[in-house]
Amino acid sequence: MDDTPEKRPTRRGLLTAAGAVLATPALAGNPKNLPPNLPEWTRALGDGVAVRAYGQPSKHEAHVIRRDVQWLTASRESSVSFTPLHELDGIITPSGLCFERHHGGIAEIDPADYRLIVHGLVEKDLIFTLADLKRFPRVNRIHFLECAANSGMEWRGAQLNGCQYTHGMVHCVEYTGVPLRVLLNEAGVRPSAKWLLAEGADSAAMTRSVPLAKALDDCLVAYRMNGEMLRPEQGYPARLVVPGWEGNMWVKWLRRLKLGDEPWFAREETSKYTDLMESGKARQFTFVMDAKSVITSPSPQAPLKAKGFTVISGLAWSGRGKIARVDVSLDGGKNWREAKLDGLVLDKAVTRFYAETEWTGQELLLQSRAIDEAGYVQPSKAELRKIRGVNSIYHNNGIQTWHVKADGEVENVEVS
Ligand code: MTE
Ligand code: CO
Repeated sequence: MDDTPEKRPTRRGLLTAAGAVLATPALAGNPKNLPPNLPEWTRALGDGVAVRAYGQPSKHEAHVIRRDVQWLTASRESSVSFTPLHELDGIITPSGLCFERHHGGIAEIDPADYRLIVHGLVEKDLIFTLADLKRFPRVNRIHFLECAANSGMEWRGAQLNGCQYTHGMVHCVEYTGVPLRVLLNEAGVRPSAKWLLAEGADSAAMTRSVPLAKALDDCLVAYRMNGEMLRPEQGYPARLVVPGWEGNMWVKWLRRLKLGDEPWFAREETSKYTDLMESGKARQFTFVMDAKSVITSPSPQAPLKAKGFTVISGLAWSGRGKIARVDVSLDGGKNWREAKLDGLVLDKAVTRFYAETEWTGQELLLQSRAIDEAGYVQPSKAELRKIRGVNSIYHNNGIQTWHVKADGEVENVEVS
């Protein structure tokens, strides 16, 4: 693997050139609040405790929000909002910023009326209340959830200008829940059972078939995310967690689990969530989300504001396990250097990477390439299209290119 020939970045230049820690142009600011004056917030008492009973971000961060693309869908009830990846760091997505994908709007479930039915090829049918679920042994797991349609608009070329829109159908949170195997064992799985049907209680009654081996392996019935109860948008009070597999299978507002000896061929696994190939045939049951990555900053919504020392930052994830390595290219894939993986590198979770550089105002073609512990290497878009054609919507994990221009503005492009 080649390293780029440019010289390694140095932060000293910044310090000496600007006489301040960062040479980034400061926001205009009110001179009354700037040194040597005492700012207004120092001269008066602030809000007391519990005035803000449930904490909210600073009002100055009001632009850090989920966004949707209204022309993408006919209604907001069957639609998607996107995670503002370009505004985040680390690996945990704040609960209120997790992208939402609903096919029939948000079901508002009264926990007193919540029931989870287990039936089909089991020794005894069971109905659990939420309190029942909470009494079982529980585990905590950090996992990414990626919609199979993430990057789905990009099959025929660069289209949406911002990683929020091209890659924002992914989030990564800590779930608390009961291993699905514990609940299934409670009901007693009959030997002929091979598949599990999961059904949601929303108006779309989302249904998906999950192979029993996966259900018994690492799936959870989760009721908490990031420590607190699931948000209504994310399936309150309980959802299925299917680590590493396409988001559509993570049934929210989980109502029913049925064991059977074959898949159910529900709408969401026949007409939708199949991959139309060049031949006109469609691939079905492509459950695993292959390794993927994206540079979140700089990116079209996060342009470069200053020359000099620059941290390139992004996320990588794989449905096959841990991320082993991420490479970054500044020249559209001609030369690659290894990025630093920072923080926790977890199984089927997003991993944060950084690559430091000295930006002198030169144009860049930024790319990142994820390699997972199974040895799978994220393909270029050309490699992906050779096998998949351009008729697909789902499972687009091709390498993303951002064109950084001389003025620091960034655009979604493709390199041939
Ligand atoms: N479950 C139900 N009941 N209804 C839905 O519309 N959407 C699915 C899945 N589970 C859906 C559902 C899809 S396509 C995805 S990508 C994920 O939920 C999105 O989960 P999120 O909204 O928590 O991001
Ligand atoms: Co989805």
